Amino acid sequence: MSNQINNFQRLRRTRMNPIIRSMVRETELSKNDFIYPLFAVPGNKFKKEVSSMPGVYQMSVDEIVRECVDVKNLGIPAVILFGIPEKKDEVGSGAYDPNGIIQQSVRAIKKEVPELYVITDVCLCEYTSHGHCGIVKGDEILNDPSIELLAKEALTHAQAGADMVAPSDMFDGRVKAIREMLDKNNFHNLPIMSYAAKYASGFYGPFREAAESTPQFGDRRSHQMDPANSDEAIREVEADIEEGADIVMVKPALPYLDIIRRVKDEFRMPTAAYNVSGEYSMIKAAGKLGWIDEQRVMLEVLTSIKRAGADLILTYFAKDAAKLL
Ligand code: PBG
Repeated sequence: MSNQINNFQRLRRTRMNPIIRSMVRETELSKNDFIYPLFAVPGNKFKKEVSSMPGVYQMSVDEIVRECVDVKNLGIPAVILFGIPEKKDEVGSGAYDPNGIIQQSVRAIKKEVPELYVITDVCLCEYTSHGHCGIVKGDEILNDPSIELLAKEALTHAQAGADMVAPSDMFDGRVKAIREMLDKNNFHNLPIMSYAAKYASGFYGPFREAAESTPQFGDRRSHQMDPANSDEAIREVEADIEEGADIVMVKPALPYLDIIRRVKDEFRMPTAAYNVSGEYSMIKAAGKLGWIDEQRVMLEVLTSIKRAGADLILTYFAKDAAKLL
């Protein structure tokens, strides 16, 4: 027996220089796949950095529009909007106010930057005084009364001119309720991207600072998924597809790459992944400290999400990455 390696198969031959490496590369990251999240707040000429998310800002509508011009010029096709209302109340009225912060933002963006594709996040947590995603009774977050309000919210976003709505609540039956509401009002061509497999994750921490949506009591474990579950994600995604979802999302991305792959293989649907706030903040922080090469790690992570099967990536890195691609 010789311990010589097999000379006929040498996998390194296609790694010997950048040209051949690029020719055999299986996954190509493209800024065409990026969706950039933005946080709209009331006011004028207001732009405040989120302390746990360097490079991410809460912005008034005028600043949002300015930012959208930048985003479009960088070649990023789409944004997703989150709103912080003037006033919060028990039932999240600001969410479905035809003149609410998101509705105003959408109208302004579609007027000034019509080529940009505008997606709206549909949820109540930024709008309720208790910070929960729906109507609360005692310590229960109610399902059916909440999805009625989400459908109303989605309709006002559509009426303001949104190109797509994205329900992020994880209540049962909300995609159907939204689809029916949109169809009834002649928005049958408006797609729904559902946050289909959304986990109860510690990685949302910085977002809750940005969106001022930390629950005042309890948590979101009665509707968002247990991080230990995988088969259940398949059932969640299947339900949303049956109810009419056009794009299905897995969230967060990096700790759930296995779920992205399973969802893509199982359903062959346009699949989105949300590279969430905590995933962004960790890389920014370690980069700042000089512990990792921020740009390199960013591109590696985004590539891994694409390689796992995501067609679309929601990411706070969209602008940084677009500048490098
Ligand atoms: C809910 C919503 C959340 C995120 C997007 N939509 C937060 C939550 O469920 O608490 C998190 C996104 C991120 O962390 O970047 N409206």
